Amino acid sequence: MRVSICIGSACHLKGSREVIQKLQKLVSENHLDSEVDLNGDFCSGNCRKGVCVTIDGELYSVKPETTEEFFQKEILGRLNA
Ligand code: FES
Repeated sequence: MRVSICIGSACHLKGSREVIQKLQKLVSENHLDSEVDLNGDFCSGNCRKGVCVTIDGELYSVKPETTEEFFQKEILGRLNA
């Protein structure tokens, strides 16, 4: 699974760094390093939806406060599907 987090300036201001750090932590705590490939991505023009995160190309809008929920629902949810 390829997860990309936008590191463009608008998403950066909305906390993309924090989202990345939280996701890295959650991925390693759940021993998913070999299944989840976390990447930084450039602005995709969806700045208003920031922080923009894509899972295999599908766009989600994540905030630092919702990162954990996003991880549980979308990442673990997909892996367990
Ligand atoms: S800065 Fe993230 S989509 Fe533009």
